[in-house]
Amino acid sequence: MSRAAVLTGVGSCLPPRAVSNDELAAGLGSSDEWIRSRTGIEQRYFAEQGTATSDLAVGAGEKALKSAGVSAVDMVLVATTTPDRPCPATAPTVAARLGMRGTAAYDVSAVCTGFVYGLATAAGLISARVADRVLVIGAETFSTLLNPEDRSTAVIFGDGAGAVVLRSGDPREPGALGPFDLGSDGAGEDLISVSAGGSRQRLSGADPAADDRYFTMSGKEVFRHAVRRMTGSARTVLARADWDAQDIDHLVSHQANLRITHHVADSLRIPRDRCVSNIAEVGNTAAASIPLALDQAHAEGTLRPGGRLLLTAFGGGLTWGSAVLTWPELDRF
Ligand code: UT7
Repeated sequence: MSRAAVLTGVGSCLPPRAVSNDELAAGLGSSDEWIRSRTGIEQRYFAEQGTATSDLAVGAGEKALKSAGVSAVDMVLVATTTPDRPCPATAPTVAARLGMRGTAAYDVSAVCTGFVYGLATAAGLISARVADRVLVIGAETFSTLLNPEDRSTAVIFGDGAGAVVLRSGDPREPGALGPFDLGSDGAGEDLISVSAGGSRQRLSGADPAADDRYFTMSGKEVFRHAVRRMTGSARTVLARADWDAQDIDHLVSHQANLRITHHVADSLRIPRDRCVSNIAEVGNTAAASIPLALDQAHAEGTLRPGGRLLLTAFGGGLTWGSAVLTWPELDRF
């Protein structure tokens, strides 16, 4: 019998410090009104110096394990663009701190699509019987990459983590993930990037220009790609699932910009009130955004058990991906 990955627990973690639009806008020639109307963002959370991505990942992972009613899994994946260090990966640290020394653990790198890539990877590992239970975490401290003088990115991104536990199960049971659709186009590598610090522009030798160490994004162009790719990928996955867009109860798209989410919903003819959105509170948290949105919507009771969810993400690479599932009955803490 074929095995599916079934969602059985969810959790999230935000650093304590909320940063308002006003706090950021003052020095940038920006304004609360501009940020709200162009992005839907009202605040975001920034981790303090000394708080690393693994700290947030552990917080989210603990809650997801508790929600699933288990203390261990046999694989830990961390989707992140902001690992604790360039080497080694962050996932083994997270696994050890969650009491799982000895457990297989590695990072998934697909920027804002990382969590959907991580889900697909975990689902593949479960159906191939490499693992029975996988913890998939999306965790970021994106504030560490931001140029505080670049208003086109400094006001958009925030820090946080979200996590789910997947277990092997029946493809027809609630919580079963899939089908999936994944894609990439490396011709767009410069549209979302950090130039220095890798093998192309090395940090050894001469110091790179300060700006080259920061995250940059060609916002307008990325906006267009994001709408086009998330819409296309969502259509593909709906066709694979043999679901109509009208049947979707909750559209959980990557929280990049509320206008992007609404464009995607409109193109798919999904009513806007079916969009799960927490961007107002947390901003764009990259790989953490979908699991954070899922956990908060679950905690608020927005996700109806048995409801049909469409997840879709877009990010640097360029990368994109989608998945569907039916929301399972889960305890709320
Ligand atoms: O998570 C990965 C995927 N990321 C995304 O999908 C993000 C996609 N892009 C976006 O969400 C939007 O492009 C942004 C929110 C980043 C920017 O919004 P926009 O409506 O595309 O603005 P723009 O870049 O076209 O800039 C319009 C104007 C410019 O001024 P001029 O040239 O018209 O005088 C910018 O300098 O707005 C200016 N601007 C700002 N003004 C006040 C850009 N950022 C700001 C700001 N405050 N924070």
